[in-house]
Amino acid sequence: MHSDRDTLFRCLWDNYRAVTPSAERIHRILGASQDRAIVNDHIALRTFNLEKVGLDKLAAHFLALGYREGGDYHFEAKKLYAKHYEHPDPTAAKVFISELRVERCSPQLQGIVDELVAQVPDDAVTADDFLYSGTHWRVDYATYQQLLAESEYAAWLAAWGYRANHFTVNVNQLANYDSVAQINDLLKAEGFTVNESGGEVKGSPAAMLEQSSTMADRMEVAFRDRTAVIPSSFYEFAKRYPKPDGSLYSGFVAASADKIFESTDAGM
Ligand code: NI
Repeated sequence: MHSDRDTLFRCLWDNYRAVTPSAERIHRILGASQDRAIVNDHIALRTFNLEKVGLDKLAAHFLALGYREGGDYHFEAKKLYAKHYEHPDPTAAKVFISELRVERCSPQLQGIVDELVAQVPDDAVTADDFLYSGTHWRVDYATYQQLLAESEYAAWLAAWGYRANHFTVNVNQLANYDSVAQINDLLKAEGFTVNESGGEVKGSPAAMLEQSSTMADRMEVAFRDRTAVIPSSFYEFAKRYPKPDGSLYSGFVAASADKIFESTDAGM
């Protein structure tokens, strides 16, 4: 596990931007609009809820860096469970980790996932680089399609493995943009596609969190038998509002996150 936060997040970012050229371009556009660094609100990671690689195994990397458990979230239709983690240092990005509840999926999907996870070496999960280690397996294209028909989440994870599913810009900390809607206007003017599922802006001031995201880039993946261009990762934007006590809301809104997951949908 990494002993310092900056190194871990730099490694995650470098791995993520390599398959998310849109994020790198948007980061550069926003960076050029102000004379201070872009701050991350959170990153998101995905996994399967099997013993070897479950949510807690990913979370251990962050707990070791001083993170603490925040809220937890259920996504019944997508068969997902998630928790978020925060650091006492308020400038640290939050971490949103979800896991697919494999036992709720078809026996066919369970069989495929068992086979993939069995190929992850036991000691890989605690290694420094696990959170951006990609796949420890190689699926064939038909298997990817089979997973996709049942769970977009499972298919994405089978194709891309362990890496940041997205980074999220902290809109509160931008110098020249005040709202998620303004960011969406910028994105569209620059030719990016905004995720419209549930509306371009998900959440509200009343929910204390507004979010939007691009649709995932499409990148080539080498499957076992062929290469194919499929959705990779996307960039998200979040603005937080104060709670009654005046401090900014630090949780997540399940109804909004549910729609954000669809940013990697292959149908686009
Ligand atoms: Ni997110």
